[in-house]
Amino acid sequence: MPESPGVVTLDKLVSLCKRRGFIFQNSEVYGGLGSSWDYGPIGVELKRNLKELWWKDNVYRRNDIVGLDAAILMHPKVWEASGHLEGFSDPMTECKQCNHRFRSDHLDASTTSCPDCGGELTEPRQFNLMFKTFIGPAEDTANTVFLRPETAQGMFVNFQNVLNSSRKKLPFGIAQIGKSFRNEITRGNFIFRTREFEQMEIEFFVRPGTDEEWHKWWSRNRFDWYTRFGIRVENLRMREHEKDELAHYAKATTDIEYQFPWGWGELEGIANRTDFDLRRHSTYSGEDLHYFDEESGSHLTPFIIEPSGGVDRAILTFLMDSYCEESVPTNSGKLETRVVLKLHPALAPVKAAILPLSRNESLVPLSKSVLESVQSTGKWNIEFDDAQSIGRRYRRCDEIGVPYCITVDFQSLEDNQVTIRDRDSMSQIRVPIESLPTLLSEKLDG
Ligand code: GAP
Repeated sequence: MPESPGVVTLDKLVSLCKRRGFIFQNSEVYGGLGSSWDYGPIGVELKRNLKELWWKDNVYRRNDIVGLDAAILMHPKVWEASGHLEGFSDPMTECKQCNHRFRSDHLDASTTSCPDCGGELTEPRQFNLMFKTFIGPAEDTANTVFLRPETAQGMFVNFQNVLNSSRKKLPFGIAQIGKSFRNEITRGNFIFRTREFEQMEIEFFVRPGTDEEWHKWWSRNRFDWYTRFGIRVENLRMREHEKDELAHYAKATTDIEYQFPWGWGELEGIANRTDFDLRRHSTYSGEDLHYFDEESGSHLTPFIIEPSGGVDRAILTFLMDSYCEESVPTNSGKLETRVVLKLHPALAPVKAAILPLSRNESLVPLSKSVLESVQSTGKWNIEFDDAQSIGRRYRRCDEIGVPYCITVDFQSLEDNQVTIRDRDSMSQIRVPIESLPTLLSEKLDG
């Protein structure tokens, strides 16, 4: 069936991502590895920008959160204490005929046969999602370690180290961005659910009794963060977890959900983890993970509020929400479709493109000097493109969300001015070349 114009579908987005260098199928030359994706030259810039914005807002713009970069492999006892070894599993059923596997809680309650071939399904069994590997040459139980399924535990087990070295007082937080791994049964929907992904997590330690207030505060703060960088408010919602869906460590969880083409899906979860994690690690390690409260002169175990978002899911959300198809008139008066990613300038992978009108031998040196004048600031990722017609180059720039195209034309040789085209309005203004760094700074860094 032809796709309706103007509506963003996953197929359109996957195709744009490949065509323009955002995201490629992992190991594609070998037929691909299920549910694994690689970020291309444009995608990696978007990812870096997203992580940097998150870090700046949560670490640099506050005085109560410090960063951490813990290792992916941790002592196996961590996963006993955290409850992951025992409980981090999904119910799985398998088709006896085609051997396809499904998460039984994702199947309709009335489903009794395989959705793919109609074959008989096995009884559901719990399947632990942690990837196992071995330290050293011997592949035995004593040497088993796990790839972390969340970055959080690195922050809990370093609680005392961070506290002692940073001398923070409650309430304070630890922030971390890093890879996590889950052997997911259900895959698909592009980068929505993958087996290797990145998380941006904050563990915010608070006094018991203030936890509910902080939980509300962080839920609102994180919701507003997504709308601040362009997600339309009508496509976002907050949803409280029902009692029976809460994780084993959580007293309450608020999900920030986005309206994906297949329905509402979790973008970030904000959990009230109570004192579960610090207590468990204290018990399992024998180390004292308490906080000495100078006000009351006593020890207490802080409660933890955890805003936990997925980098890849956020990227998918920003791509989906910024994708637009617009009808624009061509020079001949006909209408054509313009595909444009209206990404927030702070997220845009390429901030500006320098486009000489043609490869004329006098235009190219001037264009290169324009490039040099903005690139030398070292602040922005700037592209230079002199291939193909100017129309095609604008099209490519729109599809990767370049906020400003700077065209160098023959008049520029006379008046030392260039044309700046605004991505969203397509309006054009002429400005002196020497004013470009200041002008871009106002537009991009403001
Ligand atoms: N430490 C808490 C925690 O990990 P979670 O709800 O399981 O909570 C947090 O995960 C976020 O990580 C999710 O909201 C989602 O954005 C991202 N995430 C989880 N599993 C994922 C997967 N398989 N693929 C991509 N992102 C995932």
